[in-house]
Amino acid sequence: MQLLFIGAGNMGGAIIDGLQDSKNQIFISANKKEKIEPLKNKYPNAIVEYSESVNIEGKVVILAVKPQVYKTIKTNGKAKAIISVMAGVKLDSLREQFSADFFIRAMPNVAASHKASATAFTGDIDFQKEAKEILENIGQAIWVDSEKELNIATALAGSGPAYMMLVAEALADGAVRMGLKRATAQKLTQGLFEGSAKILKDANPSAVKDSVMSPAGTTAYGYEALEEAKVRSGFIKAVEKAFKRAEELS
Ligand SMILES: NC(=O)c1ccc[n+]([C@@H]2O[C@H](COP(=O)([O-])OP(=O)(O)OC[C@H]3O[C@@H](n4cnc5c(N)ncnc54)[C@H](OP(=O)(O)O)[C@@H]3O)[C@@H](O)[C@H]2O)c1
Repeated sequence: MQLLFIGAGNMGGAIIDGLQDSKNQIFISANKKEKIEPLKNKYPNAIVEYSESVNIEGKVVILAVKPQVYKTIKTNGKAKAIISVMAGVKLDSLREQFSADFFIRAMPNVAASHKASATAFTGDIDFQKEAKEILENIGQAIWVDSEKELNIATALAGSGPAYMMLVAEALADGAVRMGLKRATAQKLTQGLFEGSAKILKDANPSAVKDSVMSPAGTTAYGYEALEEAKVRSGFIKAVEKAFKRAEELS
């Protein structure tokens, strides 16, 4: 496949990094002539070009610019597909702006830089397989059936790393509060997240919770404190609010 990146910043760059060993031919469209050299140095296997009007003919275009910028991009030709990672830009708007056989919207998260994004994607089902292959270069890619579901996925997995960091920070703070050294608390928290992620791959969260919580044990007491603080309801509301905001933005 010929993959053309329009936007090779944090997110576009993470996808390009993930594709380094693939057989796809990678093109990068620079937004100014001065950007050609730095981009060539950063991605020596890619063909970097600058043009006032970007030739997208027959290519799979990965659109990874800021949402406020995409309407200023001039293109010529018809792309095989447009895969947009832009937050809040609807498929209909992409169809108005670009000419392509297929359109896909994807929502990666910040873990893309570690090839560990949980990326939701939707759009033209006939390009689902190819889009999945491309997006799997930055982690897991999970198809959702509508743009509404993509906004829910955004509230869960797009914003999710921030929520997980709050949990990580707060747990470590709790341990420090009880007298553990910060470095030890941080290492244990990191291990806790790694271990929990592995367990979660093939277990239901409530079953894991039940297996840890023994009668009148430490976990049961800790759990009571979380319920008293309405932590569960706080997370449910966080996803609801983030979803509503994603709908507003798009
Ligand atoms: N970062 C994330 O975690 C994340 C997560 C989910 C979705 N996204 C989406 O990904 C998109 C990109 O975000 P980002 O964080 O990667 O932003 P970014 O680091 O600013 O990258 C955008 C890149 O696009 C370049 N660019 C601007 N106009 C261009 C044009 N006309 N042609 C070619 N390149 C152009 C910019 O160059 P200059 O610096 O020269 O302007 C910059 O290198 C956004 O729409 C965002 O919603 C990001």
